[in-house]
Amino acid sequence: MPRQRFPLQDDTPINWRVFKKLWPYLLEYRSRVFLALSCLIFAKLASIGLPFVLKHTVDNLNLDTGKEAIMAATLGLVVAYGGLRLANVLFGEIRDTLFGRVTERAMRRLGLTVFNHLHRLDLDFHLSRQTGGLSRDIERGTSGISFLMRFMVFNIGPTLLEIIMVVGILFFKYGFDFAAVILVSVVLYVFFSIRATDWRTKFVKEVNKADNSSSSRAIDSLLNFETVKYFNNEEFEANRYDTDLAAWETARRKNRLSLFALNGGQAFIIAAAMTSMLALAAINVAQGNMTIGDFVLVNAFTMQIFMPLNFLGFVYREIRGSLANIQNLFELLERKPMVNDESEAQTLVVNHGSIKFENVDFAYHEKRQILKNISFEMAAGSKVAVVGESGSGKSTLVKLLFRFYDPNKGTISIDGMDIKRCTQDSVRQHIGIVPQDTVLFNDTLYENIRYGRPDASIEDIEQAIKMAHLDKFVEALPYKGETQVGERGLKLSGGEKQRVAIARTILKRPPIMVFDEATSSLDSQSEQAILKALGEIAKGHTSFVIAHRLSTIVDADKILVMHKGKLAEHGTHEQLLDQDGLYAKLWRAQQKNRTVTDLQ
Ligand SMILES: Nc1ncnc2c1ncn2[C@@H]1O[C@H](COP(=O)(O)OP(=O)(O)O)[C@@H](O)[C@H]1O
Ligand SMILES: [Mg+2]
Repeated sequence: MPRQRFPLQDDTPINWRVFKKLWPYLLEYRSRVFLALSCLIFAKLASIGLPFVLKHTVDNLNLDTGKEAIMAATLGLVVAYGGLRLANVLFGEIRDTLFGRVTERAMRRLGLTVFNHLHRLDLDFHLSRQTGGLSRDIERGTSGISFLMRFMVFNIGPTLLEIIMVVGILFFKYGFDFAAVILVSVVLYVFFSIRATDWRTKFVKEVNKADNSSSSRAIDSLLNFETVKYFNNEEFEANRYDTDLAAWETARRKNRLSLFALNGGQAFIIAAAMTSMLALAAINVAQGNMTIGDFVLVNAFTMQIFMPLNFLGFVYREIRGSLANIQNLFELLERKPMVNDESEAQTLVVNHGSIKFENVDFAYHEKRQILKNISFEMAAGSKVAVVGESGSGKSTLVKLLFRFYDPNKGTISIDGMDIKRCTQDSVRQHIGIVPQDTVLFNDTLYENIRYGRPDASIEDIEQAIKMAHLDKFVEALPYKGETQVGERGLKLSGGEKQRVAIARTILKRPPIMVFDEATSSLDSQSEQAILKALGEIAKGHTSFVIAHRLSTIVDADKILVMHKGKLAEHGTHEQLLDQDGLYAKLWRAQQKNRTVTDLQ
């Protein structure tokens, strides 16, 4: 299956649904949001007041400053000016402090939602996605959310309101001309910013894409550290990484140049508007229609309006970027898992643990059928073994039983209940798997084993360690059970990892146990010892054993022989030998090598 990327269209329209989805996060802290909005209004009122105070100060200074009363009034105005400035900044800060809690909570909630959702998605999704790129998408999406919330509430609406107020004030105080110039330049500015930003979006997305792929590449390469070394491919890896970085660099350059075009255009419009406003004001002062104070006021208002507007350009740009990132995140959230619980899914109740496969067909990909018409039954408490060449579909049987996938046709039932009708949780709760390849968490040995049952006591863990024949190994470790196992457990040998997996499953003690070539990395002696222990644990449990060495399953109640996705033969060891088919052939081949494998 090709690696999946979310489509990054350049013409993604603004998705209004995103705003709707953010609403509940705002409602969660109603009073905080209300207080923050009040602070915003106070800050805006202070900033609208500033030019007026400035005007009167300048006009007073123009009067006869010798008079003490006027001097005192002027000083009062200057103090008021300082007070208003302080109020403006302070209320802004209080607003941000209050609102921070709201956005952080939203980020936390969303982060958890995404995390849970990712765990609910099917195995296939995770096998096809690159973890590095995925984590980048999530990171960008959640910070996008925080940005959008902050600016949705505090920037766009309030700035528009401020513009309307200023245009109104200019209109009523100084007439149509001033209001018209401001209005026209604001409209021009907004229009230009939107068009230019839309044009730029594709460059922003290109950067994100290049960023994703270089970070995926780096992570993938580092995860495969050993393989890289085995093949002396450091330079090859470095070249591939550098190719990605070069793409990123080019994308960044285009991004920067387009940003220059945007900022340049905006600066031009602002300069033109400032010049026209000041020219108009200067003419009016010269004609005696306006005082110098009015000139200062017009200047202050024009500056004041373009400052947030300049910010608005930035905000719109960022919002477009954030929306693209959020869109990715929501697309991820909207992705439906392939395996779902039905709306009236039941809880699987396992009394004995009999298993039945009936006419099961399965394909990972529609073009390649893997399992063909598989039917068999396992009595409760019995031991059933599956053998067959590699790739014949043995592990796939286990994945179906565990509901990692649902069969395309046929049914699988446990104690008479179709597992497709049961919740995934309840099915998985009753099945313990020792997988073919065990991957461990980068934590201590004890914690890795405790994972089988998080509330297990240390005595239980030690007992499980003993049963999995891990005790001697643990004794020999420098920090005993507290030793770290390394990234994905790579500091342990294959056999040790398998034994950790066995200990985990022992701790879980489920009614149905599955061993997928669980002892294949062990030498024959340890294998025999562990099998004996497993035999004891499995007593009274149904066990499903995928075997590599036939000698380990001679005692099975039933042996299934898989061949190219079909169930070729089944029966006990003796019956199958009598049939003289595939199994008998395999048996004879392994017997011949027996002395060799036993020495391994
Ligand atoms: N996630 C997957 N997507 C596509 N094909 C898969 C997947 N997992 C396994 N296969 C294919 O299905 C076949 C059966 O695999 P498996 O059941 O693991 O075989 P085995 O009998 O060795 O355990 C193999 O040919 C393998 O390539
Ligand atoms: Mg397998």
